[in-house]
Amino acid sequence: MEEIAENAALAERAPRAVVFDSGLGGLSVLAEIRRLRPDVDIAYVADDAAFPYGRLSDETLIARVEAVMARIVAEQKPDIVVVACSTASTLALPYLRAAFPRLPFVGTVPAIKPAARESRSGLVSVLATRGTIARDYTHALVRDYAANCEVTLVGSAHLAPIAEGAMRGEAVDEVQITREIAPCFVEKNGRRTDCVVLACTHFPLLIDALKRLAPWPVLFVDPAAAIARRLDALLGETPRGSAQRRPGAAIFTSGAPPGAALQKALLRYGLTFTPSAAISLAMA
Ligand code: DGL
Repeated sequence: MEEIAENAALAERAPRAVVFDSGLGGLSVLAEIRRLRPDVDIAYVADDAAFPYGRLSDETLIARVEAVMARIVAEQKPDIVVVACSTASTLALPYLRAAFPRLPFVGTVPAIKPAARESRSGLVSVLATRGTIARDYTHALVRDYAANCEVTLVGSAHLAPIAEGAMRGEAVDEVQITREIAPCFVEKNGRRTDCVVLACTHFPLLIDALKRLAPWPVLFVDPAAAIARRLDALLGETPRGSAQRRPGAAIFTSGAPPGAALQKALLRYGLTFTPSAAISLAMA
């Protein structure tokens, strides 16, 4: 009898997901997850105490992501974790999977394969943090899936902080964005780049500016919808929740409460700042 009641309670419990990023970029992924699976309870964790990840050495980044994840998993007890960050995923995913073997992780990898498939001109660019551009993982994707294309890898140090600032209500520096994206646009023998892979989850937050400032129209390839489908496939076995939207928790590892503009932005994503759950884990 007791067991039946327990099973019924479990069946009613919404699946719990943690969406994790160095900052606010993962919100571009969260939006797609919410669209596809409104029944999932989401805790959004921004490791803002260590932002930006793009400047960290491999060893520091792996250690940092493992340490933060251990705290999050213990506190949130998620059914699934989405690492909504290419810089972390392309390096730390194998370590996370080894450290938490029973927990499914969905990673974010540069969408080089679909871009190579879509490109007509054969000129594809990958726009990412410098960390992601340096990874063997990224180079292997180019080798394995884009052999028919000429791929230009563009590492940007400034775009993620600009996107972060925009979410916090700061003015967007369009001149700087134009400078950062310029190397993505290549002209060669009468052909032009026609696909730009947004291989950092912060960049889709700037999509309107990117489209406006691009020297010619291109397809900006955003992996968020594919990540949401992967989460849906992995949760497939778990019972669906009630599809009733509850505000999710927004957790910042710095513990710093967001300003008014960011609070408003978080609300648009169905999140409220949750101070009690803050993880103050300052960078060593
Ligand atoms: N949002 C992260 C990504 O997808 C990177 C931003 C950072 O440098 O922390 O790569």
